Amino acid sequence: MKTSELINQEEKRQLEEICLIASENHTSPGVRQALGSVLVNKYAEGYPGKRYYAGNKVVDLIEQRAIDLAKKIFGADHANVQPLSGAPANLAVYSAILEPGDTVLGMDLSHGGHLTHGHPVTLPAKLYKFIRYKTTSEGKIDYDQIATLAKKHKPKLILVGYSSYSRDIDYQRVQEIANQVGAITMADISHIAGLVAAKLLNNPVPLFDIITSTTHKTLRGPRGGIIMCKQKWAEQIDKAVFPGLQGGPHQNQIAALTVALEEAQSDNFKTYAEQILENSTALAIALEARDFKLAFNGTENHLMLIDLRNKNVGGLEVQLALEQAGIIANMNVIPDDPAKPTNPSGLRLGTPAITTRGMGEDEVRQIADWLEQIVSNINNVELIADVKKQTKDLALSFPPPLQ
Ligand SMILES: Cc1ncc(COP(=O)(O)O)c(C=O)c1O
Repeated sequence: MKTSELINQEEKRQLEEICLIASENHTSPGVRQALGSVLVNKYAEGYPGKRYYAGNKVVDLIEQRAIDLAKKIFGADHANVQPLSGAPANLAVYSAILEPGDTVLGMDLSHGGHLTHGHPVTLPAKLYKFIRYKTTSEGKIDYDQIATLAKKHKPKLILVGYSSYSRDIDYQRVQEIANQVGAITMADISHIAGLVAAKLLNNPVPLFDIITSTTHKTLRGPRGGIIMCKQKWAEQIDKAVFPGLQGGPHQNQIAALTVALEEAQSDNFKTYAEQILENSTALAIALEARDFKLAFNGTENHLMLIDLRNKNVGGLEVQLALEQAGIIANMNVIPDDPAKPTNPSGLRLGTPAITTRGMGEDEVRQIADWLEQIVSNINNVELIADVKKQTKDLALSFPPPLQ
């Protein structure tokens, strides 16, 4: 089969299925046009005005525009838009400010911390010493524990920003703790960047030393990464990205980010971001009404993590059964998960993608009904096939805008 036919198949799949993966979204035609543009042909090692190749007059204007928009939208002193994705962005920050053996205080990975925040299988875990804080039994970050651990271990870096934690973050409190022990602060806002851009969640950018983000989740841009920081760190960060870790930046990706940032300034985007939160609140309420337990006691952002233990099914079984029914979500560990990561006790859901498709609270409640039916009838092939017909009808009646 030709690659173009496979791409068509994937487009059909996305149209016909309901995506509840918290880290995915449907990009606009403008973002995809920039990604597929002739900018992909250009080498531009360096930064605007300081390139190692000729022919970058236009490229410089585009990259500078992305930098200026990021600074304006988030209130940053400095922005680097070249990281190829979220993991390289985080690695660049570590390599810019840490020496091997330095201590980092970050969230326990099962409480929402991300793989790139020092999971033992990653390079940063081999280079630096990660100390972990957790959430309380009420599901909030344990700021007192952060303060105690910071005093004890004197970390060089305190890291916040998560991939399954569903609450807003008290950045002021973390900054105060960091000031007391002389630590650098870093927030990874990969998941919530669009909600921060729309001013619906706390913004760490004016406060913290360094902020990283992916650009393809709630921000609805191309797959990519961005680093924003106080002027004090700008030179170190830029050098760490290029030439420290990367070669030629992907200028088509940077152009697509520029389009996404232009879109993020619009009233439409603000309305979109508000609807993401309305949908996730409605989904949380509908799930709790159907006896689903939510880790972290609910949600204040687009994320929610179902603790499946009272349903006697594992995250993997649920993920597979939902996929059969045309609902795409991912299994996830819950805080201090007693089960193995290969079949953890949680299922993570998010509303950015269905909200882009125009779905609202009625559709969300319908989806909660299907989740309940499937989780309670995990081996019922006929029921799952029947739900699949219904999810396909719903998905087709909410096509992504100009997919
Ligand atoms: C909080 C956080 N940081 C970093 C990343 C890594 O991003 P990427 O997959 O683009 O490397 C993710 C991805 O899910 C994330 O959720």
